[in-house]
Amino acid sequence: MEKEIFNFFTGLVEKISGISYGAGKEYLVKSRLNELALTLGYKDIKELYSVVKTRLTPQLLTQIVDALTTNETYFFRDQHPFEALKNHIFPELFKLKEKEKKISIWSAACSTGQEPYSIAMLLVEYFSNYLKTYRISILATDISPTAIKKAKEGVYNQIEVNRGLPVTFLVKYFKQQGANWKIDDKIKRMVRFEIMNLLEAGKKIREKFDLIFCRYVLIYFSNETKKKVLSDIWRLLNPGGYLFLGSTEIPAITFPDMERKILGKTICYRKKL
Ligand SMILES: C[S@@+](CC[C@H](N)C(=O)[O-])C[C@H]1O[C@@H](n2cnc3c(N)ncnc32)[C@H](O)[C@@H]1O
Repeated sequence: MEKEIFNFFTGLVEKISGISYGAGKEYLVKSRLNELALTLGYKDIKELYSVVKTRLTPQLLTQIVDALTTNETYFFRDQHPFEALKNHIFPELFKLKEKEKKISIWSAACSTGQEPYSIAMLLVEYFSNYLKTYRISILATDISPTAIKKAKEGVYNQIEVNRGLPVTFLVKYFKQQGANWKIDDKIKRMVRFEIMNLLEAGKKIREKFDLIFCRYVLIYFSNETKKKVLSDIWRLLNPGGYLFLGSTEIPAITFPDMERKILGKTICYRKKL
């Protein structure tokens, strides 16, 4: 791909989403944008480039950003964070919120929904007694409209349900729909999905959370963007609340009220009370 085209598209996408495509990613960018060009009825990426240069509509910009997101995810990803939720964090949060009786959760960059649905299933499976009296709010956001559409539908194919989801949960919380599996309405209703850019979340989100999952998204950002997003997210966490990053990620910035916690086999970050 001509360097000029690569630089143009990657510059545009980084400005909007923070996703930084360095050298070596030319093939990936080219194949994804070629696919988008064909879907939109253009000959190839070069034709898409000339269209974008002359009349870039907000809708086309969204489609370009969407095409360059990586939506890899699966149910109960990495397993250990969910064990920590079950064994340490939810028991602690239910106690901490005994008076208020409300727990707010945010799955930031939720992709196609497996992460927030895993949290919801875990709550129903192990904490159903508390759910009778506590209000649980789960907000799940992502910049990708395609991912959010699929998340809202809650329909997964056989390969997707074979990744990370215990068979007992599949039987209990999904219904077969042809060759696919549809998540139970009860679980679906627990999660609120919204298209949202993490770069704007600090300004847009008004509520605060007791638990934030922001996993495997900051890895795509520059160091400067990681620090900005992490600062915004940290401000949205309630005292006593927990933040999870991906298991290989370390915070690009730390805060005086940030405690690093090892819970079982996972690491997370707690905001001091
Ligand atoms: C690799 S997936 C991770 C999904 C999930 N958190 C997990 O750990 O399985 C990364 C997600 O981040 C989203 N993303 C990338 N940049 C974003 C941004 N600026 N705002 C919101 N979501 C973003 C992508 O659309 C993608 O769905």
